[in-house]
Amino acid sequence: MEEDGSGLKPMDAEQLREQAHKMVDFIADYYKTIENFPVLSQVEPGYLGKLLPDSAPTYPTTLEHVLNDVQHKILPGVTHWQSPNYFAYFPSNSSIAGFLGEMLSAGINIVGFSWITSPAATELESIVLDWLAKALFLPQDFLSNGKGGGVIQGTASEAVLVVLLAARDKILRTVGRSALPKLVTYASDHVHSSLLKACQIGGLDPELCRLLKTDSSTNFALSPDVLSEAISNDIASGLIPFFLCANVGTTSSTAVDPLPALAKVTKTNNIWLHVDAAYAGSACICPEYRHFIDGVEEADSFNMNAHKWFLTNFDCSLLWVKDRSALIQSLSTNPEFLKNKASEGNMVIDYKDWQIPLGRRFRSLKLWMVLRLYGLEGLRAHIRNHIALAASFEELVVQDARFKVVTPRTFSLVCFRLLPPPNSEDNGNKLNHDLLDLVNSTGSVFITHTVLSGEYILRLAVGAPLTEVRHVNAAWQILQEKATALLENL
Ligand SMILES: Cc1ncc(COP(=O)(O)O)c(C=O)c1O
Repeated sequence: MEEDGSGLKPMDAEQLREQAHKMVDFIADYYKTIENFPVLSQVEPGYLGKLLPDSAPTYPTTLEHVLNDVQHKILPGVTHWQSPNYFAYFPSNSSIAGFLGEMLSAGINIVGFSWITSPAATELESIVLDWLAKALFLPQDFLSNGKGGGVIQGTASEAVLVVLLAARDKILRTVGRSALPKLVTYASDHVHSSLLKACQIGGLDPELCRLLKTDSSTNFALSPDVLSEAISNDIASGLIPFFLCANVGTTSSTAVDPLPALAKVTKTNNIWLHVDAAYAGSACICPEYRHFIDGVEEADSFNMNAHKWFLTNFDCSLLWVKDRSALIQSLSTNPEFLKNKASEGNMVIDYKDWQIPLGRRFRSLKLWMVLRLYGLEGLRAHIRNHIALAASFEELVVQDARFKVVTPRTFSLVCFRLLPPPNSEDNGNKLNHDLLDLVNSTGSVFITHTVLSGEYILRLAVGAPLTEVRHVNAAWQILQEKATALLENL
Protein backbone atom coordinates (compact mmCIF):
# COMPACT_ATOMS: atom_id res chain seq x y z
CA MET A 1 0.00 0.00 0.00
CA GLU A 2 1.36 3.39 -0.99
CA GLU A 3 0.84 6.07 1.64
CA ASP A 4 3.28 8.72 0.53
CA GLY A 5 0.38 10.96 -0.54
CA SER A 6 0.42 13.47 -3.35
CA GLY A 7 -1.09 16.33 -1.40
CA LEU A 8 -2.66 17.29 -4.69
CA LYS A 9 -5.76 19.46 -4.52
CA PRO A 10 -8.43 19.19 -7.23
CA MET A 11 -7.25 22.59 -8.44
CA ASP A 12 -4.75 25.07 -7.14
CA ALA A 13 -2.90 27.53 -9.37
CA GLU A 14 0.51 27.15 -7.73
CA GLN A 15 0.34 23.37 -7.51
CA LEU A 16 -0.72 23.27 -11.15
CA ARG A 17 2.25 25.43 -12.13
CA GLU A 18 4.70 23.22 -10.26
CA GLN A 19 3.33 19.87 -11.41
CA ALA A 20 2.73 20.97 -15.00
CA HIS A 21 6.35 22.14 -15.27
CA LYS A 22 7.43 18.64 -14.26
CA MET A 23 5.12 17.15 -16.85
CA VAL A 24 6.42 19.41 -19.61
CA ASP A 25 9.96 18.39 -18.67
CA PHE A 26 8.94 14.75 -18.86
CA ILE A 27 7.38 15.22 -22.30
CA ALA A 28 10.34 17.22 -23.62
CA ASP A 29 12.68 14.45 -22.43
CA TYR A 30 10.44 11.93 -24.17
CA TYR A 31 10.91 13.74 -27.47
CA LYS A 32 14.64 14.05 -26.83
CA THR A 33 15.02 10.31 -26.41
CA ILE A 34 12.22 9.10 -28.67
CA GLU A 35 14.61 7.39 -31.07
CA ASN A 36 15.81 5.09 -28.29
CA PHE A 37 12.46 3.32 -28.10
CA PRO A 38 11.45 0.54 -30.48
CA VAL A 39 9.08 2.45 -32.74
CA LEU A 40 6.63 -0.47 -32.83
CA SER A 41 5.95 -1.65 -29.31
CA GLN A 42 7.40 -5.12 -28.85
CA VAL A 43 5.28 -6.19 -25.86
CA GLU A 44 3.07 -9.29 -25.80
CA PRO A 45 -0.71 -9.04 -25.35
CA GLY A 46 -1.63 -8.80 -21.67
CA TYR A 47 1.79 -7.47 -20.64
CA LEU A 48 0.38 -4.61 -18.59
CA GLY A 49 -1.89 -6.70 -16.37
CA LYS A 50 1.24 -8.36 -15.02
CA LEU A 51 2.75 -5.02 -14.08
CA LEU A 52 -0.18 -3.16 -12.52
CA PRO A 53 -2.22 -3.97 -9.39
CA ASP A 54 -5.65 -5.61 -9.60
CA SER A 55 -7.57 -2.72 -8.11
CA ALA A 56 -7.54 1.07 -8.00
CA PRO A 57 -5.30 2.71 -5.40
CA THR A 58 -7.00 3.62 -2.14
CA TYR A 59 -4.44 6.26 -1.24
CA PRO A 60 -2.73 8.87 -3.42
CA THR A 61 0.86 8.77 -4.53
CA THR A 62 3.22 11.38 -5.99
CA LEU A 63 3.57 12.48 -9.59
CA GLU A 64 7.19 11.24 -9.48
CA HIS A 65 5.96 7.71 -8.73
CA VAL A 66 3.41 7.86 -11.49
CA LEU A 67 5.92 9.17 -14.03
CA ASN A 68 8.31 6.46 -13.02
CA ASP A 69 5.63 3.91 -13.86
CA VAL A 70 4.93 5.68 -17.14
CA GLN A 71 8.60 5.36 -18.02
CA HIS A 72 8.98 1.71 -17.07
CA LYS A 73 5.54 0.20 -17.55
CA ILE A 74 3.55 2.34 -19.98
CA LEU A 75 6.11 3.55 -22.53
CA PRO A 76 7.26 0.00 -23.39
CA GLY A 77 3.68 -0.63 -24.50
CA VAL A 78 3.54 2.51 -26.63
CA THR A 79 3.98 2.50 -30.40
CA HIS A 80 5.73 5.77 -30.99
CA TRP A 81 3.71 7.58 -33.63
CA GLN A 82 5.91 10.66 -33.29
CA SER A 83 9.15 8.73 -33.72
CA PRO A 84 11.13 9.81 -36.78
CA ASN A 85 11.23 6.10 -37.68
CA TYR A 86 7.44 5.88 -37.86
CA PHE A 87 6.31 5.33 -41.45
CA ALA A 88 3.13 3.31 -40.85
CA TYR A 89 -0.53 3.88 -41.83
CA PHE A 90 -0.75 7.64 -42.25
CA PRO A 91 0.98 10.02 -39.88
CA SER A 92 -0.76 11.60 -36.94
CA ASN A 93 1.42 14.64 -36.49
CA SER A 94 2.13 16.42 -33.31
CA SER A 95 3.87 19.75 -33.13
CA ILE A 96 4.88 22.25 -30.49
CA ALA A 97 2.03 24.56 -31.52
CA GLY A 98 -0.46 21.68 -31.55
CA PHE A 99 0.71 20.56 -28.14
CA LEU A 100 0.45 24.07 -26.71
CA GLY A 101 -3.05 24.36 -28.13
CA GLU A 102 -4.04 21.03 -26.57
CA MET A 103 -2.57 22.17 -23.29
CA LEU A 104 -4.50 25.41 -23.34
CA SER A 105 -7.71 23.65 -24.31
CA ALA A 106 -7.20 21.10 -21.51
CA GLY A 107 -6.41 23.93 -19.13
CA ILE A 108 -9.51 25.98 -19.89
CA ASN A 109 -11.56 22.77 -20.21
CA ILE A 110 -14.87 24.08 -21.45
CA VAL A 111 -17.62 22.00 -23.06
CA GLY A 112 -18.69 24.11 -26.01
CA PHE A 113 -21.80 22.43 -27.32
CA SER A 114 -23.89 25.61 -27.74
CA TRP A 115 -22.69 29.11 -28.51
CA ILE A 116 -23.64 30.27 -25.01
CA THR A 117 -21.48 27.60 -23.33
CA SER A 118 -18.39 29.49 -24.63
CA PRO A 119 -18.99 31.94 -27.46
CA ALA A 120 -15.26 32.04 -28.28
CA ALA A 121 -15.16 28.29 -28.90
CA THR A 122 -17.94 28.42 -31.48
CA GLU A 123 -16.85 31.64 -33.12
CA LEU A 124 -13.18 30.68 -33.32
CA GLU A 125 -14.17 27.37 -34.91
CA SER A 126 -16.18 29.10 -37.65
CA ILE A 127 -13.39 31.61 -38.22
CA VAL A 128 -10.52 29.12 -38.51
CA LEU A 129 -12.56 26.85 -40.75
CA ASP A 130 -13.35 29.82 -42.98
CA TRP A 131 -9.63 30.69 -43.02
CA LEU A 132 -8.75 27.19 -44.11
CA ALA A 133 -11.56 26.99 -46.64
CA LYS A 134 -10.04 30.07 -48.24
CA ALA A 135 -6.51 28.64 -48.04
CA LEU A 136 -7.77 25.51 -49.83
CA PHE A 137 -9.78 27.59 -52.34
CA LEU A 138 -12.92 25.69 -51.40
CA PRO A 139 -16.06 27.09 -53.01
CA GLN A 140 -17.72 30.10 -51.36
CA ASP A 141 -20.70 27.90 -50.45
CA PHE A 142 -18.55 26.17 -47.82
CA LEU A 143 -18.02 29.42 -45.91
CA SER A 144 -20.01 30.16 -42.78
CA ASN A 145 -21.42 33.47 -44.06
CA GLY A 146 -23.79 31.63 -46.42
CA LYS A 147 -25.82 28.46 -46.10
CA GLY A 148 -22.84 26.22 -45.41
CA GLY A 149 -19.92 26.22 -43.05
CA GLY A 150 -17.19 24.24 -41.40
CA VAL A 151 -17.13 22.21 -38.22
CA ILE A 152 -14.46 20.27 -36.34
CA GLN A 153 -15.28 16.62 -35.84
CA GLY A 154 -13.20 14.17 -33.83
CA THR A 155 -12.38 11.94 -36.78
CA ALA A 156 -12.99 11.44 -40.49
CA SER A 157 -15.22 8.52 -39.48
CA GLU A 158 -17.54 10.89 -37.64
CA ALA A 159 -17.41 13.31 -40.56
CA VAL A 160 -18.58 10.74 -43.10
CA LEU A 161 -21.22 9.47 -40.67
CA VAL A 162 -22.82 12.86 -40.09
CA VAL A 163 -22.94 13.76 -43.78
CA LEU A 164 -24.28 10.32 -44.67
CA LEU A 165 -27.08 10.83 -42.13
CA ALA A 166 -27.78 14.29 -43.55
CA ALA A 167 -27.89 12.94 -47.10
CA ARG A 168 -30.05 9.98 -46.06
CA ASP A 169 -32.64 12.17 -44.37
CA LYS A 170 -32.59 14.68 -47.20
CA ILE A 171 -33.52 12.06 -49.79
CA LEU A 172 -36.01 10.38 -47.45
CA ARG A 173 -37.82 13.71 -47.04
CA THR A 174 -38.49 13.51 -50.80
CA VAL A 175 -39.12 9.81 -51.36
CA GLY A 176 -40.60 8.88 -47.97
CA ARG A 177 -39.08 7.18 -44.95
CA SER A 178 -40.21 3.72 -46.04
CA ALA A 179 -37.68 3.92 -48.89
CA LEU A 180 -34.73 3.49 -46.47
CA PRO A 181 -34.02 -0.12 -47.56
CA LYS A 182 -33.66 1.04 -51.17
CA LEU A 183 -30.94 3.65 -50.63
CA VAL A 184 -27.62 2.94 -52.34
CA THR A 185 -24.20 4.29 -51.36
CA TYR A 186 -21.21 4.29 -53.74
CA ALA A 187 -17.45 4.46 -53.42
CA SER A 188 -14.38 2.78 -54.80
CA ASP A 189 -13.24 -0.51 -53.31
CA HIS A 190 -10.42 1.42 -51.64
CA VAL A 191 -12.66 3.77 -49.71
CA HIS A 192 -11.94 3.84 -45.99
CA SER A 193 -13.85 1.25 -43.93
CA SER A 194 -15.46 4.12 -42.02
CA LEU A 195 -17.98 4.47 -44.88
CA LEU A 196 -19.29 0.96 -44.35
CA LYS A 197 -19.45 1.57 -40.62
CA ALA A 198 -21.42 4.77 -41.26
CA CYS A 199 -23.88 2.80 -43.43
CA GLN A 200 -24.30 0.26 -40.64
CA ILE A 201 -24.91 2.94 -38.04
CA GLY A 202 -27.24 4.80 -40.42
CA GLY A 203 -29.52 1.79 -40.81
CA LEU A 204 -28.62 1.42 -44.49
CA ASP A 205 -28.40 -1.98 -46.08
CA PRO A 206 -24.65 -2.81 -46.09
CA GLU A 207 -25.28 -4.89 -49.23
CA LEU A 208 -26.26 -1.65 -50.94
CA CYS A 209 -22.94 -0.02 -50.12
CA ARG A 210 -21.39 -0.53 -53.54
CA LEU A 211 -17.62 -0.69 -53.37
CA LEU A 212 -16.83 -0.41 -57.05
CA LYS A 213 -13.83 -2.24 -58.37
CA THR A 214 -10.70 -0.33 -59.30
CA ASP A 215 -7.41 -1.52 -60.76
CA SER A 216 -4.01 -0.34 -61.89
CA SER A 217 -5.43 1.03 -65.18
CA THR A 218 -6.74 4.03 -63.22
CA ASN A 219 -4.12 3.85 -60.46
CA PHE A 220 -6.91 2.53 -58.23
CA ALA A 221 -9.12 5.58 -58.73
CA LEU A 222 -12.86 5.21 -59.28
CA SER A 223 -13.90 5.30 -62.94
CA PRO A 224 -16.88 7.59 -63.70
CA ASP A 225 -18.06 5.03 -66.28
CA VAL A 226 -18.08 2.26 -63.70
CA LEU A 227 -20.02 4.54 -61.36
CA SER A 228 -22.55 5.50 -64.07
CA GLU A 229 -23.14 1.89 -64.97
CA ALA A 230 -23.67 0.86 -61.34
CA ILE A 231 -26.13 3.71 -60.85
CA SER A 232 -28.07 2.83 -64.01
CA ASN A 233 -28.31 -0.81 -62.94
CA ASP A 234 -29.52 0.16 -59.49
CA ILE A 235 -32.13 2.56 -60.83
CA ALA A 236 -33.33 -0.15 -63.22
CA SER A 237 -33.75 -2.45 -60.22
CA GLY A 238 -35.94 0.11 -58.44
CA LEU A 239 -33.23 1.22 -56.00
CA ILE A 240 -32.41 4.82 -55.07
CA PRO A 241 -28.79 6.03 -55.43
CA PHE A 242 -28.15 8.78 -52.89
CA PHE A 243 -24.50 9.07 -51.75
CA LEU A 244 -21.02 8.93 -53.24
CA CYS A 245 -17.90 9.04 -51.11
CA ALA A 246 -15.06 10.09 -53.43
CA ASN A 247 -11.46 9.87 -52.28
CA VAL A 248 -8.62 12.28 -52.65
CA GLY A 249 -5.83 10.09 -51.31
CA THR A 250 -7.02 6.59 -50.47
CA THR A 251 -5.60 4.89 -47.42
CA SER A 252 -4.12 2.04 -49.46
CA SER A 253 -2.27 3.97 -52.13
CA THR A 254 -3.33 7.68 -52.08
CA ALA A 255 -5.42 7.17 -55.23
CA VAL A 256 -7.24 10.31 -56.31
CA ASP A 257 -10.72 9.86 -57.72
CA PRO A 258 -11.50 12.19 -60.67
CA LEU A 259 -13.79 14.65 -58.92
CA PRO A 260 -14.94 16.71 -61.93
CA ALA A 261 -16.11 13.66 -63.89
CA LEU A 262 -17.64 11.97 -60.84
CA ALA A 263 -19.42 15.22 -59.93
CA LYS A 264 -21.14 15.26 -63.33
CA VAL A 265 -22.55 11.81 -62.58
CA THR A 266 -23.68 12.70 -59.06
CA LYS A 267 -25.26 15.95 -60.22
CA THR A 268 -27.28 14.23 -62.96
CA ASN A 269 -28.51 11.65 -60.47
CA ASN A 270 -29.14 13.94 -57.50
CA ILE A 271 -26.54 12.15 -55.37
CA TRP A 272 -24.77 13.74 -52.37
CA LEU A 273 -21.06 13.98 -53.15
CA HIS A 274 -18.75 13.71 -50.15
CA VAL A 275 -15.00 14.11 -50.65
CA ASP A 276 -12.78 12.22 -48.23
CA ALA A 277 -9.37 13.90 -48.31
CA ALA A 278 -8.54 12.83 -44.77
CA TYR A 279 -4.81 12.56 -45.41
CA ALA A 280 -4.12 14.34 -48.70
CA GLY A 281 -6.29 17.39 -48.08
CA SER A 282 -3.45 19.00 -46.11
CA ALA A 283 -1.21 18.97 -49.19
CA CYS A 284 -3.79 21.01 -51.10
CA ILE A 285 -2.79 24.21 -49.29
CA CYS A 286 0.25 24.13 -51.60
CA PRO A 287 -0.60 25.68 -54.97
CA GLU A 288 1.18 22.85 -56.81
CA TYR A 289 -1.08 20.21 -55.19
CA ARG A 290 -4.38 22.13 -55.13
CA HIS A 291 -5.42 20.63 -58.48
CA PHE A 292 -6.01 17.29 -56.75
CA ILE A 293 -9.24 18.71 -55.35
CA ASP A 294 -10.35 20.40 -58.56
CA GLY A 295 -14.05 19.58 -58.83
CA VAL A 296 -14.66 20.11 -55.12
CA GLU A 297 -16.86 23.04 -56.23
CA GLU A 298 -19.54 20.47 -57.00
CA ALA A 299 -19.18 18.52 -53.75
CA ASP A 300 -21.76 18.71 -50.98
CA SER A 301 -19.18 18.06 -48.28
CA PHE A 302 -15.41 17.93 -47.91
CA ASN A 303 -13.26 16.50 -45.14
CA MET A 304 -9.61 16.58 -44.18
CA ASN A 305 -7.91 15.50 -40.98
CA ALA A 306 -5.78 18.29 -39.57
CA HIS A 307 -4.61 15.64 -37.11
CA LYS A 308 -2.97 13.62 -39.86
CA TRP A 309 -0.55 15.87 -41.70
CA PHE A 310 -1.23 19.43 -40.58
CA LEU A 311 0.86 19.62 -37.41
CA THR A 312 -2.30 19.52 -35.31
CA ASN A 313 -2.31 17.00 -32.49
CA PHE A 314 -5.02 14.36 -32.54
CA ASP A 315 -7.97 14.88 -32.69
CA CYS A 316 -9.06 17.48 -35.22
CA SER A 317 -11.00 16.50 -38.35
CA LEU A 318 -12.27 19.34 -40.52
CA LEU A 319 -15.60 19.04 -42.27
CA TRP A 320 -17.24 21.57 -44.56
CA VAL A 321 -20.78 21.35 -45.88
CA LYS A 322 -22.66 23.45 -48.41
CA ASP A 323 -26.03 23.04 -46.76
CA ARG A 324 -25.71 23.14 -43.00
CA SER A 325 -29.49 22.89 -42.61
CA ALA A 326 -29.29 19.31 -43.93
CA LEU A 327 -26.92 18.41 -41.08
CA ILE A 328 -28.96 20.27 -38.51
CA GLN A 329 -32.23 18.68 -39.59
CA SER A 330 -30.69 15.26 -38.99
CA LEU A 331 -28.80 15.94 -35.81
CA SER A 332 -30.47 18.67 -33.80
CA THR A 333 -32.38 18.20 -30.58
CA ASN A 334 -33.72 21.00 -28.47
CA PRO A 335 -34.34 19.91 -24.89
CA GLU A 336 -35.70 22.42 -22.40
CA PHE A 337 -32.56 22.42 -20.29
CA LEU A 338 -30.43 23.70 -23.19
CA LYS A 339 -32.77 26.47 -24.33
CA ASN A 340 -31.29 29.98 -24.28
CA LYS A 341 -31.89 33.35 -25.88
CA ALA A 342 -29.10 33.21 -28.47
CA SER A 343 -30.10 29.76 -29.74
CA GLU A 344 -33.82 30.50 -29.72
CA GLY A 345 -33.18 33.72 -31.64
CA ASN A 346 -31.35 31.80 -34.38
CA MET A 347 -28.52 34.26 -34.00
CA VAL A 348 -25.74 31.75 -33.48
CA ILE A 349 -24.28 28.40 -34.47
CA ASP A 350 -24.78 25.60 -31.96
CA TYR A 351 -22.27 23.00 -33.05
CA LYS A 352 -24.02 20.31 -31.00
CA ASP A 353 -26.41 20.12 -33.96
CA TRP A 354 -23.61 19.35 -36.43
CA GLN A 355 -22.22 16.27 -34.66
CA ILE A 356 -23.12 13.03 -32.85
CA PRO A 357 -22.33 13.83 -29.20
CA LEU A 358 -23.54 16.79 -27.23
CA GLY A 359 -20.27 17.68 -25.51
CA ARG A 360 -17.37 18.99 -27.53
CA ARG A 361 -13.83 20.12 -26.88
CA PHE A 362 -12.28 23.50 -27.69
CA ARG A 363 -10.35 22.05 -30.62
CA SER A 364 -10.32 25.24 -32.67
CA LEU A 365 -7.90 26.73 -30.17
CA LYS A 366 -5.35 24.13 -31.19
CA LEU A 367 -5.89 24.67 -34.91
CA TRP A 368 -5.77 28.43 -34.46
CA MET A 369 -2.47 28.15 -32.62
CA VAL A 370 -1.05 25.94 -35.37
CA LEU A 371 -2.11 28.46 -38.00
CA ARG A 372 -0.77 31.41 -36.00
CA LEU A 373 2.52 29.86 -34.93
CA TYR A 374 3.47 28.24 -38.26
CA GLY A 375 1.48 30.29 -40.76
CA LEU A 376 0.37 28.78 -44.06
CA GLU A 377 3.91 29.10 -45.41
CA GLY A 378 5.30 27.08 -42.50
CA LEU A 379 2.70 24.40 -43.08
CA ARG A 380 3.43 24.31 -46.80
CA ALA A 381 7.15 23.86 -46.05
CA HIS A 382 6.28 20.97 -43.72
CA ILE A 383 4.23 19.22 -46.42
CA ARG A 384 6.82 19.81 -49.13
CA ASN A 385 9.60 18.48 -46.93
CA HIS A 386 7.75 15.20 -46.37
CA ILE A 387 6.91 14.84 -50.04
CA ALA A 388 10.56 15.40 -50.93
CA LEU A 389 11.63 12.76 -48.38
CA ALA A 390 9.14 10.29 -49.85
CA ALA A 391 10.43 11.07 -53.33
CA SER A 392 13.97 10.32 -52.17
CA PHE A 393 12.82 6.98 -50.74
CA GLU A 394 11.02 6.18 -54.00
CA GLU A 395 14.25 6.90 -55.86
CA LEU A 396 16.12 4.41 -53.64
CA VAL A 397 13.53 1.72 -54.35
CA VAL A 398 13.69 2.36 -58.09
CA GLN A 399 17.48 1.90 -58.03
CA ASP A 400 17.25 -1.63 -56.55
CA ALA A 401 16.09 -4.02 -59.28
CA ARG A 402 14.91 -6.53 -56.67
CA PHE A 403 12.09 -4.12 -55.73
CA LYS A 404 9.29 -2.44 -57.63
CA VAL A 405 7.36 0.78 -57.00
CA VAL A 406 3.79 -0.41 -57.44
CA THR A 407 1.79 2.77 -58.00
CA PRO A 408 3.01 6.22 -58.94
CA ARG A 409 3.76 8.22 -55.79
CA THR A 410 1.54 11.27 -55.49
CA PHE A 411 2.08 12.59 -51.97
CA SER A 412 4.30 11.24 -49.17
CA LEU A 413 3.32 7.57 -49.43
CA VAL A 414 5.41 5.07 -51.38
CA CYS A 415 3.81 1.71 -52.29
CA PHE A 416 6.37 -0.90 -53.22
CA ARG A 417 7.17 -4.60 -53.04
CA LEU A 418 10.03 -7.04 -53.16
CA LEU A 419 9.78 -9.06 -56.37
CA PRO A 420 9.72 -12.85 -55.99
CA PRO A 421 12.62 -14.61 -57.69
CA PRO A 422 11.81 -16.12 -61.10
CA ASN A 423 10.20 -19.58 -60.85
CA SER A 424 9.18 -18.95 -57.27
CA GLU A 425 5.96 -20.67 -56.20
CA ASP A 426 5.04 -17.66 -54.12
CA ASN A 427 3.60 -14.75 -56.12
CA GLY A 428 5.44 -12.46 -53.75
CA ASN A 429 2.68 -12.15 -51.16
CA LYS A 430 4.32 -14.39 -48.59
CA LEU A 431 7.71 -12.89 -49.32
CA ASN A 432 6.49 -9.35 -48.67
CA HIS A 433 4.50 -10.42 -45.63
CA ASP A 434 7.66 -11.99 -44.20
CA LEU A 435 9.70 -8.93 -45.08
CA LEU A 436 7.24 -6.67 -43.27
CA ASP A 437 7.36 -8.83 -40.14
CA LEU A 438 11.15 -8.98 -40.17
CA VAL A 439 11.58 -5.26 -40.66
CA ASN A 440 9.06 -4.27 -38.00
CA SER A 441 10.44 -6.76 -35.48
CA THR A 442 13.72 -4.82 -35.46
CA GLY A 443 11.95 -1.98 -33.64
CA SER A 444 14.01 0.41 -35.75
CA VAL A 445 11.30 1.20 -38.25
CA PHE A 446 7.54 0.74 -38.54
CA ILE A 447 5.85 0.38 -41.91
CA THR A 448 2.52 -1.22 -42.88
CA HIS A 449 0.98 -2.99 -45.86
CA THR A 450 -2.02 -3.08 -48.14
CA VAL A 451 -3.35 -5.31 -50.89
CA LEU A 452 -3.77 -3.92 -54.41
CA SER A 453 -5.35 -6.18 -57.05
CA GLY A 454 -4.52 -9.23 -54.92
CA GLU A 455 -0.88 -8.24 -54.43
CA TYR A 456 0.53 -7.75 -50.95
CA ILE A 457 2.21 -4.34 -51.01
CA LEU A 458 4.41 -2.51 -48.53
CA ARG A 459 3.59 1.10 -47.65
CA LEU A 460 6.04 3.67 -46.37
CA ALA A 461 4.37 6.95 -45.43
CA VAL A 462 6.57 9.88 -44.43
CA GLY A 463 4.93 12.27 -42.01
CA ALA A 464 6.35 12.26 -38.50
CA PRO A 465 7.56 15.70 -37.44
CA LEU A 466 11.13 14.65 -36.59
CA THR A 467 11.80 12.53 -39.69
CA GLU A 468 14.89 13.53 -41.66
CA VAL A 469 16.58 12.08 -44.70
CA ARG A 470 18.85 9.96 -42.47
CA HIS A 471 15.81 8.17 -41.06
CA VAL A 472 14.45 7.47 -44.53
CA ASN A 473 17.85 6.14 -45.61
CA ALA A 474 18.10 3.98 -42.49
CA ALA A 475 14.65 2.53 -43.13
CA TRP A 476 15.70 1.63 -46.66
CA GLN A 477 18.91 0.04 -45.42
CA ILE A 478 16.95 -2.20 -43.03
CA LEU A 479 14.57 -3.15 -45.84
CA GLN A 480 17.47 -4.02 -48.11
CA GLU A 481 19.29 -6.06 -45.45
CA LYS A 482 16.20 -8.05 -44.52
CA ALA A 483 15.34 -8.57 -48.19
CA THR A 484 18.81 -9.98 -48.82
CA ALA A 485 18.48 -12.31 -45.84
CA LEU A 486 15.06 -13.51 -46.98
CA LEU A 487 16.08 -14.09 -50.59
CA GLU A 488 19.21 -16.02 -49.52
CA ASN A 489 17.13 -18.36 -47.40
CA LEU A 490 14.50 -19.15 -50.02
C1 LIG B 1 -8.68 8.27 -46.48
C2 LIG B 1 -9.10 8.07 -45.04
N1 LIG B 1 -10.36 8.31 -44.67
C3 LIG B 1 -10.76 8.14 -43.41
C4 LIG B 1 -9.90 7.72 -42.44
C5 LIG B 1 -10.39 7.54 -41.04
O1 LIG B 1 -9.81 8.48 -40.23
P1 LIG B 1 -10.25 8.70 -38.72
O2 LIG B 1 -9.35 7.86 -37.89
O3 LIG B 1 -10.05 10.17 -38.50
O4 LIG B 1 -11.68 8.31 -38.60
C6 LIG B 1 -8.58 7.44 -42.76
C7 LIG B 1 -7.62 6.97 -41.74
O5 LIG B 1 -6.46 6.77 -41.97
C8 LIG B 1 -8.16 7.62 -44.10
O6 LIG B 1 -6.91 7.35 -44.48
